[in-house]
Amino acid sequence: MQQLPGRHFLQIPGPTNTPLPILAAIAKPTIDHRGPEFAELGLEVLAGIRSVFKTANPVVIYPTSGTGAWEAALVNTLSPGDRLLMVETGWFSTLWSKMTKSLGFEADIIKGDWRSGVEADLLEARLREDKAHSYKAVAVVHNETSTGVTSNIAAVRRAIDRAGHPALLLVDTISSLGSIDYRHDEWGVDVTIGGSQKGLMLPPGLSFNAISDKALAASRTSRFPRAFLGWEEMLAANVKGFFPYTPSTNLLQGLKVALQMLHAEGLDQVFARHARAAQATRTAVRHWGFEIQCSNEAEYSSTLTAVRLPVGHSADALRHEILERANMSLGNGLGPLADRVFRIGHLGDFNNLTVTGTLSGIEMGLKARGIPHSPGGVEAAMEALAGNLPPAALAAE
Ligand SMILES: Cc1ncc(COP(=O)(O)O)c(C=O)c1O
Repeated sequence: MQQLPGRHFLQIPGPTNTPLPILAAIAKPTIDHRGPEFAELGLEVLAGIRSVFKTANPVVIYPTSGTGAWEAALVNTLSPGDRLLMVETGWFSTLWSKMTKSLGFEADIIKGDWRSGVEADLLEARLREDKAHSYKAVAVVHNETSTGVTSNIAAVRRAIDRAGHPALLLVDTISSLGSIDYRHDEWGVDVTIGGSQKGLMLPPGLSFNAISDKALAASRTSRFPRAFLGWEEMLAANVKGFFPYTPSTNLLQGLKVALQMLHAEGLDQVFARHARAAQATRTAVRHWGFEIQCSNEAEYSSTLTAVRLPVGHSADALRHEILERANMSLGNGLGPLADRVFRIGHLGDFNNLTVTGTLSGIEMGLKARGIPHSPGGVEAAMEALAGNLPPAALAAE
């Protein structure tokens, strides 16, 4: 492929753009993973990552993509044949339930419309019916990356408590961690699954399990065979900052800087920046006259917006046009949404100009493809951003 001039706009909903300070940290010489310098790094990132999950408990860091951390959550806490209750919010919840079944667990699925999130009342009703407490875990996706819908995890917790059900709560935060408010301890989550390549602004390759005391206790009685993904050896080695096998040294060097960057900005400011970008994006989409895949305003995602094109227009052809002509990647529609929606990523390392640049690339693409729309979406987004600028202290820095 011909090299296009200018910086590529990577506006898919993850992996996201990696900022230069993080790239520079990853590019530093690899260090001895059994030496004192590594121990210091290990202790720093293992402690620092807890603040992003908002937990005082241990967080395990795997050298795998997010899928590995999904599997780790299951094999560490459950036993062969155990039953789970899962909620179908879109493509990623579906993949997770497929994995669950492939591993030999039983998964009951609460069906969804791929346009809204977890319905806490429905979940509560299903748990109340389970008088024998046969469900060992409830598994949900916090931010469904295929649809741009964020579920209310505090409400899920309350539903489980109201039903008086002892099931563990497993939550996937792969496309929300470090971008949308999330509270592992306060919301009583037992295992939170995260990934490096989205809000943490790192390349793909690291994933996480934040672990509650209850999940840790479950892992001690779990009879599922596990080796590489087992928590026990990992947690034992982590006490001194080490890993039971060769860790992703350079990605961990990057993680150290990512954590510093998130804390320097302040997590609340980071969440507000994402919310502003999402709001500006929706303003443009509505102005163009398109429908947003998420049908519930209370569940709009701050990290991505999935846009439905009018019937008869190919979302993939639009994305292709934009890639070729504007050097920008947008997310494709997944599963039944293939070619029907395109997804705008507004997460990780970006600012107001990244948002307006992204939207202008889309608006030019719409024009080039002859897709009927009301021009001026970018201006409408600029208005939304101008009336809602970040605090002066941040702007002045
Ligand atoms: C919500 C969610 N869960 C799980 C995954 C799978 O993670 P990975 O591709 O890193 O294995 C993704 C990937 O985008 C995701 O967005």
